[in-house]
Amino acid sequence: MEYRKLGQSPLELSAITYGAFAIGGAMWGGNERKDSIAAIHASIDHGVTSLDTAPFYGFGLSEEIIGEALVGKDRSKIQILTKFGLVWDGSNQGKGEFFFDAAENGKTIPVYKYAAKQNVIKEVEESLRRLKTDYIDLLQLHWPDATTPIDETMEALELLIRQGKIKAAGVSNYSLEQMETAAKTIALASNQVPYSMLNRSIEQDIVPYTTAHNIGIIAYSPLERGLLSGKYFADAKLKADDHRNGYFGQFNPEKVKALLAALQPLAASKNVSLAQLVLRWTTLQKGISVVLAGARNAAQAESNAKATDITLTAEELQFMQQALAK
Ligand SMILES: NC(=O)c1ccc[n+]([C@@H]2O[C@H](COP(=O)([O-])OP(=O)(O)OC[C@H]3O[C@@H](n4cnc5c(N)ncnc54)[C@H](OP(=O)(O)O)[C@@H]3O)[C@@H](O)[C@H]2O)c1
Repeated sequence: MEYRKLGQSPLELSAITYGAFAIGGAMWGGNERKDSIAAIHASIDHGVTSLDTAPFYGFGLSEEIIGEALVGKDRSKIQILTKFGLVWDGSNQGKGEFFFDAAENGKTIPVYKYAAKQNVIKEVEESLRRLKTDYIDLLQLHWPDATTPIDETMEALELLIRQGKIKAAGVSNYSLEQMETAAKTIALASNQVPYSMLNRSIEQDIVPYTTAHNIGIIAYSPLERGLLSGKYFADAKLKADDHRNGYFGQFNPEKVKALLAALQPLAASKNVSLAQLVLRWTTLQKGISVVLAGARNAAQAESNAKATDITLTAEELQFMQQALAK
């Protein structure tokens, strides 16, 4: 495993950081708790020290599972990355910005973006309880909330750093303009943004800015939620309540299949899977601090953790670049 400093923060994270969205179950067709715990343990056994979650993932369940999985582990050797600012329990009393209706067990759950100061403070206490810990390594605003001034949210994060409840503060899904506004109040550790072989839009504006200002980039959905493993073009099937039934529709299947077919011989020559090759490529792109890889079970977690063992020559990277350009 490689370990990388996150921007100008004191944090050092594993280049493959475990992503705990799917183990929350909701939106992903569910997951067995024992498989989720095994995925976290397998990650740690293979050098992953950093785990990314959010209160929203499984409506608290993902954080709870991480808390359970870390019982008996040396907390000082693990970095917990979580978030705040997506409210689903009605505690915002209609304040904030309506985001979308989530569906869970036949019920509709309205989800709001809400980043007011008192809500940040409240959510952190709830996360600490679910995670069974007394500090969070990186606390990130999950999505921008247009109803709360950015400086109000950033002041709350600064307070939490002073109180020792969080070690560093970041954002997620922030635009360049929003990062510039936040910089007037706080030195952000990172921005967590979507980045994959199929979605490279951050290379235009976010990466040049974060590189110039020594801010970390945490890349999410590097496998495009499983699509880039290739298995959904073979025999893998999605459950009816899996959000990917809609999500995958944004990609042109013929183009993705052609890309994976072009990469397959390189993966085979290195005796690695397509998913591992895709993850390795992602860790090596300019400005990317760490890559969040989701895994539902121990086998996926072990495979993903081993991606940084792959060596890619300049020629091989160029070959991949050419395959992507097509
Ligand atoms: N900040 C945000 O707004 C935001 C948004 C999305 C994600 N994230 C973060 O980023 C993390 C990673 O993104 P993601 O979970 O959305 O997607 P991802 O990492 O691109 O894909 C994860 C999914 O791919 C499949 N998979 C994983 N490893 C595999 C392997 N080795 N072989 C075959 N299939 C494999 C699994 O699902 P199946 O087995 O069911 O196919 C897994 O749940 C999340 O967990 C979360 O922490 C953040």
